[in-house]
Amino acid sequence: MNEFKAKPFVKWVGGKTQLLEEVRKSLPINLCQLKNLTYIEPFVGGGAVLFWILQEYPNIQHAIINDINKELICTYNVIKNDVHNLICCLDSLQTKYLSLTSDERKKFFLEKRKAFNSKEKTDIETASLFIFLNRTCFNGLYRVNSKGEFNVPHGKYTNPKICDRVNLLAVSSLLQRVDIICGDFEETEKYASSTSFYYIDPPYKPLSNTSSFTSYSKEGFNDSEQIRLRDFCSRIARKKAFFIASNSDPVENKTGASFFEQIYYDFRIKRVSATRLINANPNNRGIVSEIMISNISNTQQNERL
Ligand SMILES: C[S@@+](CC[C@H](N)C(=O)[O-])C[C@H]1O[C@@H](n2cnc3c(N)ncnc32)[C@H](O)[C@@H]1O
Repeated sequence: MNEFKAKPFVKWVGGKTQLLEEVRKSLPINLCQLKNLTYIEPFVGGGAVLFWILQEYPNIQHAIINDINKELICTYNVIKNDVHNLICCLDSLQTKYLSLTSDERKKFFLEKRKAFNSKEKTDIETASLFIFLNRTCFNGLYRVNSKGEFNVPHGKYTNPKICDRVNLLAVSSLLQRVDIICGDFEETEKYASSTSFYYIDPPYKPLSNTSSFTSYSKEGFNDSEQIRLRDFCSRIARKKAFFIASNSDPVENKTGASFFEQIYYDFRIKRVSATRLINANPNNRGIVSEIMISNISNTQQNERL
């Protein structure tokens, strides 16, 4: 039996690998028995929860993922539909890159970054450059400037794994049960029903003015976007969908209640500890408190086991 577990094919800020146990505790207690369930992730990012849940709960035969990042979603589609071609492209990028001196690697990286930012690319080029840049840039960050251009500098990994063939094949196999959408999170509202379960992981509200990694995309995600997301959660809850939403746990404001306690006062809020490994500011790596908001009651959650 194949014990290999598919995992995210990119490093992603806010990746949830460290929080999977907390997600598990918050899931509906009968999740493994539910039939015809659709799992929905409106902000899929690197997909840590998606890959984990599809392998942990084989009864979930259908999932829908969405993200606003066009290149990320193009990469998901290429892995789903053209993985062997992608593996060939990544393998040749890896062979070339690893044969270069460190100065040559930097030059090669900058050429590939320019190619990635050009408009003239096929889907297979977009996907292979997306993975190549993620594996060779500083800290695996994805950050864009106001024109939407990827602008992370070269990283200095000695032996980066650019072509992870075994994982890409495992991811491709899982994606066969996933519908992939590129757009705003509200696009996923039409799938809400009593047989849908949403895991919602938006860009986090910055903890302070200095900890502002908010630019996954040129659109950004400010407080009014957080409120638009709260309204979305209320609407899907009214349609009887289950949801869990993660966010940061910003310091209390003058009124004594935190931002999320105020806006989500009619939902359940739980504080959890998370280890953050990718952050542009080294002072913000380490253990931080996060919140999980849900419309699943205590008695319906795994936690009470
Ligand atoms: C915190 S990350 C998700 C992390 C993910 N759960 C993981 O494990 O890697 C947030 C994601 O939201 C996406 N995003 C930002 N604004 C969005 C919007 N309005 N609609 C949909 N996706 C958006 C970003 O591109 C990013 O991938």
